[in-house]
Amino acid sequence: MDYKQLIKQIDKKQMPKHIAIIMDGNGRWADEHNTKRVNGHKEGVKAVRRIVETAVEAGLEYLTVYAFSTENWRRSKQEVNYLLKLIMDSLIKEIDDLKANNVNIKFIGSKEELEKSYNKKVLSTCRSSWDNDGLHLNIAMNYGGRRELIDAFKKMSDDIISGKIKKERINDEMVSNYLYTAYMPDPDLIIRTSGEERLSNFLVWQSAYSEFWFTKTLWPDFSREEFIQAILDFQDRKRRFGSR
Ligand code: IPE
Ligand code: IPE
Ligand code: MG
Repeated sequence: MDYKQLIKQIDKKQMPKHIAIIMDGNGRWADEHNTKRVNGHKEGVKAVRRIVETAVEAGLEYLTVYAFSTENWRRSKQEVNYLLKLIMDSLIKEIDDLKANNVNIKFIGSKEELEKSYNKKVLSTCRSSWDNDGLHLNIAMNYGGRRELIDAFKKMSDDIISGKIKKERINDEMVSNYLYTAYMPDPDLIIRTSGEERLSNFLVWQSAYSEFWFTKTLWPDFSREEFIQAILDFQDRKRRFGSR
């Protein structure tokens, strides 16, 4: 069925607010097509564009995509440099369109190690999209869930020492608001492509009650239809949050 037909089947009252995606399988896609890994990443960018468009059409509020993890530095220098440049170049190409579509774009992740890779113009354009109230698109770049928690602990201890917060007042909500995703809803649904069924250090705190949806499809092949199907399947899940 065409994805536009599938979108009509979504029950707006049960729409997930926040979907997060572990976009995995670019390298294996390249292997299957007898081409270099970098071409898999290039093809992966097309899938990001497709899914962001579909998320806008479906009326999603928050979409977080895992683009580069704090562990991905373990790959060859050549692949790392290619990936970082590809992410920036693709954003430069797409950013005007994204802004015109009322998308609010944010990077989440550690700024350390990345100074050189970030393009200043991209960062200022992202900032100028922060008044947009359509889809909130988070690009998780040099992101690690544990690093995010460490960064939060450091900020919290500074704020305790300076008297800005009191140790006794620390609760779930306060911790959430010290994370890169401060003031955003937790992901209702986490999608991972390529058949791997693990979190790989993604949204460690925020995923406490997320629903997971896995597919064997490799990220470059991930379709609009499959994305909407994940939302439809999510709507059949019974979330209990600990109650009976
Ligand atoms: C996902 O594809 C993209 C990133 C991690 C940046 P991979 O590059 O991990 O592809 P596989 O897992 O080797 O197939
Ligand atoms: C997770 O994929 C990171 C991103 C999608 C950016 P990986 O391919 O790096 O994860 P592992 O190593 O298979 O767990
Ligand atoms: Mg992988």
